[in-house]
Amino acid sequence: MKDETTYLLKTLIRQIYLCCGGMVLVSLITLLLYFNVFSQDNFQPAETTSTPSDPEYDATRLNDSEENKIIKYGHELFVNTPKYIGPDNGKQEFIFTGNRLACNNCHLYSGTKPFSASLIGIVNRFPQFRARENKIGTIEERINGCMERSMNGKPLPLDGNAMKAFVQYLTWLSRFAPKDGEIEGQGFVKIEIPNRKVDLANGERVFKMTCVECHGLDGQGKKASGSFAYEYPPLWGPDSFNNGAGMNRAITAAQFIKANMPFGTTFDAPLLTDEEAYDVAGYITQQKRPIKAHTEKDFPDLKKKPVSTPYPPYADLFPLEQHQLGPFQPIINYYKQKYNTTKTK
Ligand code: HEC
Ligand code: HEC
Repeated sequence: MKDETTYLLKTLIRQIYLCCGGMVLVSLITLLLYFNVFSQDNFQPAETTSTPSDPEYDATRLNDSEENKIIKYGHELFVNTPKYIGPDNGKQEFIFTGNRLACNNCHLYSGTKPFSASLIGIVNRFPQFRARENKIGTIEERINGCMERSMNGKPLPLDGNAMKAFVQYLTWLSRFAPKDGEIEGQGFVKIEIPNRKVDLANGERVFKMTCVECHGLDGQGKKASGSFAYEYPPLWGPDSFNNGAGMNRAITAAQFIKANMPFGTTFDAPLLTDEEAYDVAGYITQQKRPIKAHTEKDFPDLKKKPVSTPYPPYADLFPLEQHQLGPFQPIINYYKQKYNTTKTK
């Protein structure tokens, strides 16, 4: 009798042990799975990489009042562009962009990051003279400039919801800016343009060391799972900006990269030297990308064309390759001497 009780007791204790062990194991696995799945599924860069560092400029925090609705829609369009006006949005009549980039891919943190062509104050800076068209342009025309080039698409109708929402969002971003709209962190950082041709081999080396981790060896980036937008946008190829885009000028790309890449870099703590930014920018802009029609009609006054515009014609006799890869200093000097104009890009 006593033996039997001991035996039963022992079995019971063993079973409790086994059961507890099993439970601990199962909870551990569940926990691990949970965190793993959590971190993957919840990483929606279109949301996380679009958050401005100053909450005053975070449109997602606005309440749903009638006047805020269009601002919030403008912000949504800005960070999730392909979902609404991209090639796969599902409605033929709403396809306006030719690639799947979002405005936020270049105008970082929802257009508020210093020196990534920040759009704070932008509406106050318009209308303004535009060299590409050689006339005074409106904010709507400027947005459509990026639509036709950076987004490789077609212009948005001026009276459509998307254009109105963009303008409302940018107006809201400009609400604290001075009258002239001039703010610190506007445009891109100035770099010292190396007085030599781009070193493409060095550009490739920099690319492989510091960019492929996110943009991929083939430069094609990576889509965010379950999203229309890219987690890491392509730097060239069919889904990238076209040859007529500002980002396709070696100098402009170098300035953007210097203050903003690898992602997380800020202008006051850049990772790359000016030389590295210059070489990697040259490397990227030499790759294949969509071709914009009629670029020969850009800059009707050719003297106003940026020296690193990678397509002809030019008001000088420097070869095409030099306009794409430098050295730019001789071209800059030429315009200074002949026309007394100071070229910066
Ligand atoms: C591939 C990168 C890229 C994308 C995507 C992009 N832009 Fe731009 N955008 C630029 C660059 C580069 C400039 C500055 C061009 C220059 O210096 O000539 C610019 C300039 C602008 C400006 C004028 C800024 C100023 O300071 O004068 C506005 C407004 C603008 N973009 C709006 C948009 C909107 C809206 C979208 C989305 C529909 C968009 N951009 C998508 C690269 C991009
Ligand atoms: C840690 C990841 C990461 C690394 C490393 C990185 N990038 Fe990016 N890059 C991004 C992200 C994310 C964006 C889009 C930003 C957004 O949408 O908020 C971007 C945008 C860009 C853009 C503008 C958008 C486009 O598609 O053209 C360029 C150009 C660019 N990166 C170049 C580079 C270069 C050159 C390097 C290496 C020096 C680099 N990046 C390294 C994550 C990265």
